[in-house]
Amino acid sequence: MKVLIATEKPFAAVAVEGMRKVIEEAGAELALLEKYTSKAELLAAVADADALIIRSDKVDAEVLDAARNLKIVVRAGAGYDNIDLEAATAHGVSAQNTPGQNSNAVAELVFGMAVMMARNMFNGTSGWELKDKTLGIQAFGQVGRNVARIARGFGMEISAVDPYCPDSVMEEAGVTPVHSVEQLYRENRVVSIHIPATPETRGSIGYDLIASMPKGALLVNTARKEVIDEEGLIRALDARPDIKYAADVAPGRAAEIKEKFGDRVFFTPKKMGAQTAEANINAGIAAARQAIAFLTTGEDRYRVNK
Ligand code: 3PG
Repeated sequence: MKVLIATEKPFAAVAVEGMRKVIEEAGAELALLEKYTSKAELLAAVADADALIIRSDKVDAEVLDAARNLKIVVRAGAGYDNIDLEAATAHGVSAQNTPGQNSNAVAELVFGMAVMMARNMFNGTSGWELKDKTLGIQAFGQVGRNVARIARGFGMEISAVDPYCPDSVMEEAGVTPVHSVEQLYRENRVVSIHIPATPETRGSIGYDLIASMPKGALLVNTARKEVIDEEGLIRALDARPDIKYAADVAPGRAAEIKEKFGDRVFFTPKKMGAQTAEANINAGIAAARQAIAFLTTGEDRYRVNK
């Protein structure tokens, strides 16, 4: 049994060691492909792998074609928009994620960026505090719930929208449920985005929502760049010089946006939300365990494809 860890953006070394232990103790072999720069390297490495563990690495039909022995691909993390699920199903491959394992890391980054933006990039001018400000959480999944927990510590007034989450779950977390995205953007000084990138959500946050935000608003996106309508974002930032935008990771038109709006916008150079030792260990080891469990027993409870 061969398990390939293929990460263009590597896990912390300590996480890889933990994964190695899980894999080798199960009598399997670990192959490691880190910081690869071409798809050809991935296609070659995956040729004899029984399991593949990835992060935001793209697994499309070509990769699945090349992976003749592959039975399972585990995305060590939450979002699996980088896996072609239909192709995985067509190739008889189980596609899985590791929900919740890196959510605290992402939630902490939300506040790291929010404080930095509220304090004007620490440039010496007077900023504002998060305490007593309204926070709207768009999607109340694992990350959104961690954001709410931390926001309580900051003393924020928290509301959330999530058509898939019962109001009672939000209420138990001290969060006011709202039932429209429009209301969430209209009423909250800070909005934090936690929706997945799906055909329905791609480009769904644009001019109307952003320009409707209250005076001095801050939009924080630690989800996916694809959920933003970049043209609409640019128009909203143009129309509303009081609004700021911070994102992990940079939009497609990052250079143009940065040039136009300067310190009113901030982008991480690489996706940093889950880039902590703890998140790497949690998600990496969970992925290794899931890969081994599937190969040895067929355990499939985190499967995300049909
Ligand atoms: C996720 O979906 O889990 C996060 O976006 C983390 O992505 P990464 O593993 O590429 O850092």
